[in-house]
Amino acid sequence: MSRKLFFTMVFLLLSFSSVNAQTCDQCHSDVVNPYQAGPHAALDCNRCHQNGNAHAANPQTPTGVRVEVANCGECHQLQFDSYMEGEGTDQTPQKQDEYPILRRLLAGHPFAEDYREPRSHVNMLTDFVRTSRPRSATCMLCKSSDVYWQWNNNINYDSNTGELLDQNIIVNPITCVQCHNPHVPELRVVQPALIEATERMPQTHPGKEDPMGTRVCSQCHVNYNLNPPAKGIEFPFVKVAEMPDYIVNTDIWRQTKTGGWDNPEAGTMLYKVQHPEAELYWDSIHHKLGVSCADCHMPKRTAANGQTYTQHWLTSPLNHIEDACLVCHTQSAGELQARVKGIQDEVYALIETAMNTMDEALDNLVVAQNTATVNENRLNDARENYFMAHLFWEWIAAENSMGFHNAAEARESLTRATAFASDAIDQAAQSVGNMPLPEEPPSRRIPWIPILLGLAVTIGAIAYIIRRRR
Ligand code: HEC
Ligand code: HEC
Ligand code: HEC
Ligand code: HEC
Ligand code: HEC
Ligand code: HEC
Ligand code: HEC
Repeated sequence: MSRKLFFTMVFLLLSFSSVNAQTCDQCHSDVVNPYQAGPHAALDCNRCHQNGNAHAANPQTPTGVRVEVANCGECHQLQFDSYMEGEGTDQTPQKQDEYPILRRLLAGHPFAEDYREPRSHVNMLTDFVRTSRPRSATCMLCKSSDVYWQWNNNINYDSNTGELLDQNIIVNPITCVQCHNPHVPELRVVQPALIEATERMPQTHPGKEDPMGTRVCSQCHVNYNLNPPAKGIEFPFVKVAEMPDYIVNTDIWRQTKTGGWDNPEAGTMLYKVQHPEAELYWDSIHHKLGVSCADCHMPKRTAANGQTYTQHWLTSPLNHIEDACLVCHTQSAGELQARVKGIQDEVYALIETAMNTMDEALDNLVVAQNTATVNENRLNDARENYFMAHLFWEWIAAENSMGFHNAAEARESLTRATAFASDAIDQAAQSVGNMPLPEEPPSRRIPWIPILLGLAVTIGAIAYIIRRRR
């Protein structure tokens, strides 16, 4: 076949498969109208949906939806190349090999066995496939962009994750369309739990004014719970100070092991905190200045050809301090890095103090639980304080910036964790009589004697003054 003929055939094939937006307009004007007014107007619908004409003739014929990065990358090379930059990085070693105390603090939870530092977005589906922790289809709302657009349609809470992977229904990590509307290419949110959490935000909520450069990240970088009755996922979306209320008033976290689990040594169910990046960040110095997650993690950069673009490699901002930080800070990159390191070292020291105090609390709880004559009330007080210690410790330990996102709140949370753990140590010791029980709180009887004495003195004084005036 001559080259000319070949190209003519390809052209004919393409024009056959190409679809005119008008074909779709009669049934999808809500998509087509804004589409034709936006920058993608010239793109063929078939670029991302196959069988358009067949589907238009018979809507029962599925169109399919292409979400892979390479599709967008063909026209948006700079964003695509930078997005793929994180691809080669290795998985970090298991955290609990480096910090064995984690095995004890998380005992009974799957994280005690498999817990690594994160790596860049391109790797997330690979890492999800590799993890030994239980994998529910719901988890994939944060691991793959193959999920959101068919959630509750073809994929739901009860779907079998292994089958979805084996049948190649799930093949992509999160891709461009997780943050960009493909039709009218502006930033958007597709995570159902975030949409729901945003709707119930009170006027006073600290994240109320969050710009889109933060909201796109809050789709996943937040603390969450699976929600078995609703067959979905829920974001508490509150500061750690409000978590005790959430925990008391909500039951769903107890219903799946990812949220509530029994630590055998603590003798109680604990709350599993998951990466509260957005929540910790609220009300920090940078948050109050209006800096978004993307400002630091996805700074603007100038390409070799002089074009300015947003760098899409999700990584530590310390890998691009000039672009991300020196737009505001006047220090050198080295000085600023040292300042970040200083905060992180200080926060880590506080994490260690909290963990060691919790370790000691567990020692005492174990003894108390194995003592037949234990004072149950006192033991329960100890457990309750241990529960709180765990919450305030893990809020910072599971957050990924080692306190940098909000140093002041990280210090406060860890100080509270240590105080709760110290109380648990004392109460567990008291419960088996190794320490005297504290005095009972003063009784509520009205202290008549001091009141009467006080009255007598006052009356005496008044009488005395009146007599002298005379
Ligand atoms: C005659 C009406 C009609 C026309 C014309 C039509 N569609 Fe549809 N389309 C539908 C209906 C109805 C659904 C919902 C089907 C369902 O939910 O099972 C749908 C669903 C879709 C979906 C969602 C698929 C999914 O799996 O979620 C896409 C994408 C789509 N259409 C694209 C197109 C494109 C592109 C065109 C033009 C080439 C087009 N449609 C023309 C009726 C139409
Ligand atoms: C650059 C890729 C891309 C192009 C081009 C594109 N779509 Fe889509 N479309 C998607 C993706 C991805 C989804 C999945 C839902 C989402 O991301 O909002 C989707 C979903 C849809 C849906 C179902 C959900 C909804 O939003 O109502 C319809 C209908 C649809 N597209 C119609 C069209 C039509 C008509 C055209 C051409 C005028 C078109 N699309 C062009 C990527 C594209
Ligand atoms: C066939 C080429 C092509 C494909 C494929 C394509 N785009 Fe575009 N896109 C364009 C053009 C052309 C523009 C308008 C010019 C510009 O801003 O670069 C544009 C504009 C945009 C913009 C707005 C740019 C701005 O400066 O505000 C975003 C965001 C975007 N596209 C995202 C996407 C995403 C996400 C996908 C994949 C779902 C995609 N595009 C697929 C060609 C394409
Ligand atoms: C759909 C879910 C999702 C969205 C949206 C999302 N992330 Fe992530 N992010 C993840 C997951 C999952 C990982 C861990 C991947 C791994 O370790 O395999 C991760 C990892 C990261 C990392 C660690 C990279 C490294 O190399 O250590 C950074 C930084 C990050 N994300 C920042 C952001 C920012 C900033 C945004 C918003 C602009 C964002 N993410 C949006 C899910 C998401
Ligand atoms: C985690 C969210 C997220 C993902 C995933 C993502 N983007 Fe972006 N994208 C952003 C943000 C944030 C901006 C900056 C928007 C702004 O400055 O207003 C941006 C900007 C853009 C722009 C506008 C031009 C520029 O560089 O500022 C284009 C085009 C674009 N992205 C394409 C893509 C493509 C292609 C992909 C997939 C390879 C992708 N994006 C994936 C968040 C994301
Ligand atoms: C003022 C700049 C700044 C802002 C704003 C910011 N971060 Fe960070 N982020 C950092 C720094 C600095 C680190 C620590 C990096 C390190 O230790 O190498 C970090 C670490 C992280 C990490 C862990 C990265 C790793 O390599 O392990 C994630 C994930 C993350 N941030 C997500 C977010 C999210 C989501 C938001 C918004 C809610 C956000 N960040 C807002 C500067 C920022
Ligand atoms: C929009 C401007 C802006 C950007 C962008 C910005 N900062 Fe800041 N940052 C400030 C201001 C203002 C302060 C408060 C004054 C001060 O402490 O220098 C501050 C405070 C700090 C502090 C002290 C925080 C504390 O808790 O004591 C550190 C460390 C810091 N920034 C590091 C960074 C790093 C690292 C980046 C980039 C990843 C960054 N900043 C990006 C404006 C910014």
